[in-house]
Amino acid sequence: MPNERLDPILAGEVESLRQTGTAKGSEAVIVGIEPARDGKGPRYRLEGRDRSYIRMNSNGYLGMAGHPVVVEAEETGTREFGAGPGAVRFISGTYRAHLDLEARLADFHARPAAVIFSSAYAAVVSTLNSLITPDTLVLSDELNHNCIINALRMARPAAREVYAHLDFEALDSLLDDATDTVQRAIIVTDGVFSMRGDYADVSTLMDLARAHDTDFEEGVVLVVDDSHGVGAFGETGRGTEEITGAGAVDILIGTLGKAFGVNGGYVAGSQELADFLREKAPMYIYSNPITVGEAAAAAAAVSVVDSAEGRMMLAHLAAMTARFESGLVDLGLETIPGPHPVVPLMIRDTDRTATLVRHLYDNGVLATGLNYPVVPKGDEEIRFQVNADHTDSDIDEVLGILRSFPD
Ligand SMILES: Cc1ncc(COP(=O)(O)O)c(C=O)c1O
Repeated sequence: MPNERLDPILAGEVESLRQTGTAKGSEAVIVGIEPARDGKGPRYRLEGRDRSYIRMNSNGYLGMAGHPVVVEAEETGTREFGAGPGAVRFISGTYRAHLDLEARLADFHARPAAVIFSSAYAAVVSTLNSLITPDTLVLSDELNHNCIINALRMARPAAREVYAHLDFEALDSLLDDATDTVQRAIIVTDGVFSMRGDYADVSTLMDLARAHDTDFEEGVVLVVDDSHGVGAFGETGRGTEEITGAGAVDILIGTLGKAFGVNGGYVAGSQELADFLREKAPMYIYSNPITVGEAAAAAAAVSVVDSAEGRMMLAHLAAMTARFESGLVDLGLETIPGPHPVVPLMIRDTDRTATLVRHLYDNGVLATGLNYPVVPKGDEEIRFQVNADHTDSDIDEVLGILRSFPD
């Protein structure tokens, strides 16, 4: 068997990750959710453990996955149309629910069109690979998400430039230097950077793109992956565009699997872009769409976000984030301040990160330690994610557990 030789090599690679403390390790298995009660948010039950946990590591910033309107929409969609789409969309897999969701997303983001994908990862990889020609320069922030990094590895541009995190002066000179050397330039950035909760000033980036537009025959295009921003950030959940007061960026990519509480990803932009992606994007053409249930649930989630109830949830989320952040500061701990519900606790040491994650876990808090290579060396941290279903009492409980950690 060929694996007799390969398997030990694979096992050795995993072992060396364990040795250096950078393995992700075994995954906690969630086996139940206790609903919110008595001033406390939901609690999670894990396999093999006889206690419940506050979850401080969910991307579900609005707690939308369990919203009754969203769950009902998913159940109805599935009951009426079945559990799977049956084919890719151009074969026979497009349902009314897919088109309705695309229209809902286009409307929410004030764009002419939107196209859904099975995930934001697929949306990013497909969009970038379809847009990058052999005569394209791509410029990418050094802390962009893995989906952008891999998309750029797969593409064959004329040149790739990685600029220092949020260093727009460096980006400006890279664009200057490249004037007329290629036909097309694409700037690609995360909106919110998920490891740190900081964000790109996409308003400035749009100005930069426009200032250099005529330096390239086919212009400069700004692509923003705002997976952690859409639904979660800004008074109405329009994400980084809203927080930075930007107009519409050229191409916006979002996920339905975080603040919107469901699953899937999307691209919003011009009608021409949407038509092009339906013809060219590999993961649109050759991979199944999300299910009818998911599409119906996601459309319901967007409608909830875009309502008075959604704005109340966003205001509560902002208040809980501020409470947690100022609590960390009061404890003399280092964070990266900002309004996004990703609140990093900077530890800057791999072993100490693991010990504190364990202390939190032993005391009923789920939080994620991030080590190299997920974050740069020296930036080891515990990433806390505040959710709208957290309460004052939950936040204070977590802070109390941090306070009890011996120095
Ligand atoms: C910036 C960014 N893009 C894309 C994704 C992937 O989203 P999805 O799960 O929808 O593929 C993530 C998830 O962590 C992300 O942080």
